[in-house]
Amino acid sequence: MNNKDVYVERKRYVESKAREMLAGLTLEEKFKLLTSNARRRFYVTDPIKRLEIPSFKMTDGPLGVARHSGSFKKCTRFPATIALAATWNRDLPRAMGKAIAREVASIGRHMLLAPGTNIHRTPLNGRTFEYFSEDPHLTKEMAIPFVKGVQEEGIGACLKHYAANNQETDRRSSNSVVDERTLHEIYLRAFRETVIEADPWAVMGSYNKVNGTYGCEHKYLIRDILMERWNFDGFVVSDWFATRPIETTEGCVNGGLSLEMPWPARYKTGSLQKSFEKKLFSEEAIDDLVLRILRVMFLCGAFENGDSPRHDYRNSPEHQELSRKIAEEGMVLLKNDSDLLPLNPNDATTIFVAGPNLKKKFGKLLYGGSSAVVPLYEITPYEGLKERIGKDCFTDDPEKADIAIIFAGLDHGKGKDSETADRKTLKLPGEQISLIIETAKVNPNTIVVLIAGSPISMDDWLDNVPTVLIAWYAGMESGRAITNVLFGDTSPSGKLPITFPKILSDSPAHSTGYPKTYPGDEEKNVHYEEGILVGYRWFDTKEIEPLFPFGFGLSYTDFIFGSSLIESSTVYEMDDRFEVKVELENIGPRIGSEVIQVYASIEDSAVQRPKQELVGFKKIYIKDKEKAKSVIKINARDLAYYDIKRHDWRLEPGVYRIFIGNSSRSIFDEHEILIKK
Ligand code: BGC
Repeated sequence: MNNKDVYVERKRYVESKAREMLAGLTLEEKFKLLTSNARRRFYVTDPIKRLEIPSFKMTDGPLGVARHSGSFKKCTRFPATIALAATWNRDLPRAMGKAIAREVASIGRHMLLAPGTNIHRTPLNGRTFEYFSEDPHLTKEMAIPFVKGVQEEGIGACLKHYAANNQETDRRSSNSVVDERTLHEIYLRAFRETVIEADPWAVMGSYNKVNGTYGCEHKYLIRDILMERWNFDGFVVSDWFATRPIETTEGCVNGGLSLEMPWPARYKTGSLQKSFEKKLFSEEAIDDLVLRILRVMFLCGAFENGDSPRHDYRNSPEHQELSRKIAEEGMVLLKNDSDLLPLNPNDATTIFVAGPNLKKKFGKLLYGGSSAVVPLYEITPYEGLKERIGKDCFTDDPEKADIAIIFAGLDHGKGKDSETADRKTLKLPGEQISLIIETAKVNPNTIVVLIAGSPISMDDWLDNVPTVLIAWYAGMESGRAITNVLFGDTSPSGKLPITFPKILSDSPAHSTGYPKTYPGDEEKNVHYEEGILVGYRWFDTKEIEPLFPFGFGLSYTDFIFGSSLIESSTVYEMDDRFEVKVELENIGPRIGSEVIQVYASIEDSAVQRPKQELVGFKKIYIKDKEKAKSVIKINARDLAYYDIKRHDWRLEPGVYRIFIGNSSRSIFDEHEILIKK
């Protein structure tokens, strides 16, 4: 049997066990399973002793096992999700998902509350670091292997936050007002594809309302779309305390919410009983909700293993190494005039180092919010450099130094790239700007390393410095990873998963209609007026020059895109695929990798379409002075749009242009294909 057959077989077995278990439950026991009565045990449900139903135990992610929810154990801290996405390497989310799941199992938990699959609508969102991208295609391409990796280890993944949860300002009360096409094409698409392809065992309902209804009682989103249309057979859990403002118990039951966390508000046994007696919901509805939980409990092995740790893989050297690898691959070199980087390891260089993030550790309890992992150790940039060059190479005088490196960026505290509040500005704090400008005045070899989880505007200092690298929040090995990249042990290969605007008002949610489009009007309605034109779709269509475009990132070597071709230029059906063949040459001085990006657009469309959309990509490694041929498979369905007349996706017939390049703004070749009726 292949892996798929084994999985199907396991699901069949689980189904019969879960149904058998359900048949033995009283109505009151079923009610009990819908929430957790274990107050103060924020992530754990109650057991039902009579039937030997164990507790179900969850823990936060997605940067590793978060300390507050992981029995206060120290675990491997991985780079932020945006850094993972910036690798554009599908093998890494799978490996990271697997590694985190092994650590989840090591502390006797059953489910990881990750990944976050929300789209970057505004660069100010405090949780931008926790989400993959502004682009649904890149998001799903990274979320799918992440979920598979987690679940291959017998741990459940939970896609969050469903749906249109795109800001932290008023996150518990805002109402995302979003039209049907935009909702499906931009904000639901990565959820959809991940549900269909990777079969996550849970989905988390969001705090916010979508078109007037809270995420956790949203019958259209949960029952009609997620369960009916996408065939999701796992359970929906509320975001923590997200049910508080919801008015009725039956709203949640009929909406499809299986598990209310962390304790009952709408799912108190008394309220459930009363609503049931009033026939506001049926026993079948309750059975369905409970069956979904039991199914997942069996899938996670909760009945077999209980909550005893299966092994102890926490902080294994392999996981730490993986964390460093992802950090290195995710870093994006934004500017490198006169090839200041990489630094030459043989030069007896004196280095001036400064900046608020030079010695800062980010892995602290709840720092950044619920995703905070506290690792055994965290190598700061200062420690990483010191390990490499020894402390005698540092000088306090920027003027005398061969190189100056400023570790700038954000603080990851509240309002500065963290859950519960959005950032107020795209700019760096004034003192950092002064530090950069003052240093660059006396030292022309000034490098800025940004440690941040979201875009930063640079117009006020970018021209003053030759080199800028963004390292994101790079995990416990951050300082070593940064040092390795600075010294060229590895050539940067990260590409931006989000557009960096020059100024905030250039970006779609901020360009018009303040405060209607962001952060919301007086009634806290946030009008998604930019529609489908999110991220580069907006910048490219409106011809607004970004600071750095989506998909952009430099390398220490040089690649030349050679000829490319599409063999069969006619595609018929949604399920068809076509292949783009690209030749790439590394003409530069060292081994490196490049991401071939494929974008598409249609010539004439019945509806508004963005100038271009990402439909495929591939990261390839090439030795210096070598050529490689690469095949990128494109699914025709990725050229489709969401048709509101049919309430479904439609692959519009017509001539499509297919662009090949290494960012949304650097296209080297193009082809045409025809989609026939
Ligand atoms: C966050 C979720 C998290 C949950 C449990 C909420 O505040 O939005 O992402 O999983 O808390 O800690």
